[in-house]
Formats: sequence, C-alpha cells, structure tokens
Amino acid sequence: MKIQSAQMGTEVVGVIGAGYVGLVTAATLASLGHEVICVDVDREKIEKLRSGDVPVVELGLPELLHQHRDRLTWSLDAADVFERARIAFVTVDTPGLPSGDADLSRVEAVIGRIPDDVPPMILAMKSTVPVGTGARIQRHLRRQGLDQVTYVSNPEFLREGTALRDVRHPDRVVVGADDLRDADEVARLWAPLGGPLRCCDLASAEMIKLAANAFLATKISFVNEIANVCEHVGADVAVVAEGMGLDHRIGADFLEAGLGYGGSCFPKDVAALKQLAGNSGYHFQLLSAVIEVNELQKRRVVSALAARLGTLAGARVALLGVSFKPWTDDTRESPALVLAERLTAEGATVVAHDPVVGAAAAKVLPAGVAVVRDLAEAVSGADAAVIVTAWPEYGGLLEQGMSRAMARPLLVDGRNMLDPYAAARAGYEWVGIGRPEYATAAAAHIAHPMAGAR
Ligand code: UDX
Repeated sequence: MKIQSAQMGTEVVGVIGAGYVGLVTAATLASLGHEVICVDVDREKIEKLRSGDVPVVELGLPELLHQHRDRLTWSLDAADVFERARIAFVTVDTPGLPSGDADLSRVEAVIGRIPDDVPPMILAMKSTVPVGTGARIQRHLRRQGLDQVTYVSNPEFLREGTALRDVRHPDRVVVGADDLRDADEVARLWAPLGGPLRCCDLASAEMIKLAANAFLATKISFVNEIANVCEHVGADVAVVAEGMGLDHRIGADFLEAGLGYGGSCFPKDVAALKQLAGNSGYHFQLLSAVIEVNELQKRRVVSALAARLGTLAGARVALLGVSFKPWTDDTRESPALVLAERLTAEGATVVAHDPVVGAAAAKVLPAGVAVVRDLAEAVSGADAAVIVTAWPEYGGLLEQGMSRAMARPLLVDGRNMLDPYAAARAGYEWVGIGRPEYATAAAAHIAHPMAGAR
C-alpha cells in the first residue's frame, strides 16, 4: 500500500536518476519531510551515496543530504520506487543526439521498468523533453494497460552551482497535466517553498522550459554580438550591457559577454527546440543564429591569439578554467574543450588549470594537454593565458609576479572578470571581450560614469 508515510502530509516520493537535478530534488524533498527513494543505474554512484559521498560538486548539497540522510534511501532498482512511491520524479539525462533531437532512451528505459501491477501513481517528468513527449508517454501507458499511472510535466529550472537556492526559492513552479488533480498533487509537494504556481496543459509546460532556455541563450548570443560590434566601433560592452540592463523590460541578468554558453542544458535545449520546430515543418531561423554565434565566439579567441602572437605553432597557452562555469565541476560543452582542441590543432602547447576539476580534466581534454592544479605553474612560461571560466581564483593573476612569470604577459579575459586597469597595472597586456584596449578604456571610464561597475 502506497502514499502517506507515518507523518501527516508527508509522502513516499521516488526520484529516478541521481544526477544534479535528481540529487537536488531528492535532498529538497527530504528536507520538506518526505521519505525519498532515489534510484540510479550507476552502481558506483549509488555506492558513493550510500557511504555518504556526493558524486557531484554542488554548493550546500552534501550538507543537506547528510542532514536528512534518515529520510533518503539509495537504490539501484527502480522497482523500489514503483513499489512504494505515490509520485515518482523522472530526473534522468536527455542528452542531444547528433541530429539535434533529444535522446529519450533513458526516459523510455524508466517507463519500461514500470510493472503491470504497479499501484496507482503519478510519473512527474523533471527532465527536459521535447514538446509532445508527455502525450506520447501517456498513449504508451494506455497501450500497456497502465491506466493507474498518470503523467505530469514538472520542469526544473535550476542552475548548476546555485541549484539548491533555485529549487528552494523558485521563480515559478510549472506543472502541466491533463488532469488538474494530478497537477495539484505534485504542486502541493512544492507549495511550502512558495513561488508563483502555473498549472497548465502538458505541451505548454514542456514548451515553457524549452522556450525559457532558448530565450536566455538568445540573450547571451545577442550580447556577444553586441560585444563583437563594440570591438569594431570602440565601445565597451560592459558599459553598454549595464546601460541596457537598467531597462526593466530587458533586465540586467544574462547580459555578460564572453566565450558563450556551455553546460548540459543550453546547447542541447536550444538545438532540441530548433529541431523540434524543424520536425514539425517550421524553420526557427533565430535559433540557428544563436547557435552559430555561440560557436564562433570561442573560435574568435583563437584568431585573436593568433593575430597577437603571430603564430600559434609552438606557442604555450594557459587555459584557465575547464568547467563550463564557476562553482561546478561539470565540463559538458565547456568552451575550454573547443579551445583546447583548436589550439592544439594549430600547433600550440596547451596547459589547463581548474581549481575544482582535477584528474577528470585529462579525460575530456585532447591528449597532450597538461592539467595542473597550481595557477602560478599554469601561467609560468606561457605566451598567453585565457580565462575561460570566471573562477574567483583568477583574481590571483593580479598578484605580484604572476605576469612576470609568463613568457609574454598576454591575458585574454574571456569572461571580462578582471578590472582592465588593475590587469594593466599588474603588467598584463589585457584583452577583454567587446571591451576597448586599456588606453581607450581609461578614456571611456571618464566619459561614462557607469563604466568600471564590473
Ligand atoms: C541553465 C538554466 O539557467 C537553467 O534554468 C536550466 O534549468 C538549465 O540550464 P546552467 O546550465 O546550470 O542552467 O547554467 P547557467 O548558469 O544558466 O549558465 C549557462 C551558460 O551561460 C554558462 O556557460 C555561462 O557561462 C553562460 N552565460 C551566462 C554567459 O555567457 N553570459 C551570461 O550573462 C550568463
């Protein structure tokens, strides 16, 4: 018999897939008093979790999992969830296929594990899936005679690195379902966290997630295009973005020019939405440009280095940051991977540094790229250094002697994280993205009171 556990108002909840989304979902539900059964097919991961180890880097997650360990069960068998949980969240990954479509094989594997005699339950999809997936899964469930299993779309909007905060203080909670009673049951689980609730049909819930990510990616590619134009016309994108962002219709977030977006969501979700539109006969032109701009943004750095160094062949280049953004060890679709490959192909010797990604970096970077843990060692003897990830540690580049240890103190600040004046004072030939050379920037600083805010 399922549903309510001993305490009033608390449930037995399943979480299938112990990745970033699954672990954060599991920890949050446990912190709300629910009994959580979290399943993954990866034996090593489950064994780690059972022994109190957390297989991903996420701020506050180890503490929260530890604090609520009595309410968390780790299992290799989805049957444990289907036997006991009233609601099962699906949090498996849905990686991109070469065609741009989402690979739903892991979702399908989960559905395939539901036993014929499963007690009534709700399957709540958190993984990002193409619009129409919910309707298809429902048809499949009916064909299998699994009428007691209902389906709800409950997309996640968490960012890696701030995932717990995003889930515990949501901007909104979206629940899509054919039957409002199912939506309500899932929404009630999240209600203690607050945040505006939007209950809607399945397709719209699925679309909200894809459209939100595509819009954010568009914002990034847009500001990167502005940055590139700024370089041609002598404007400073940091000043421009701040001036734009003060308009409440635009908003200041996601206007940081740099090496483009990476990670496990944006690249694949943007491609998936473009492909989804294409599959239904609509050419989503804007997204093609968003993707292209993002690809070119990384390659522009390689050309900028080549232009300044004369040739890349034989040059020693330090890549600072391997994770796709700070506060995570995730290297999926990190610009560092493309840069390392391009630079190596051009004959450069690449040394990579990351304060968190350790031995795993060597597995994702091209052969021959040395990975070091010490920043001074990474830049020592280098002809150029490129900040790929805005780790606060890279403020250390401004410390005494760092620039002098380089063969040439050329510093490409791919995230515009350092103050150009401070970088120049520290002896660097500093190059930002969409920002003027130091001398011009100094003039801009006087002309624009908003300059230097970053
Ligand atoms: C993203 C979405 O924000 C989240 O809602 C969704 O659920 C999953 O995808 P995440 O992949 O963790 O989250 O990364 P996010 O912090 O949003 O950043 C995405 C990428 O955009 C990073 O590579 C980051 O460096 C880049 N970015 C972000 C910019 O280049 N400029 C910006 O102004 C903001």
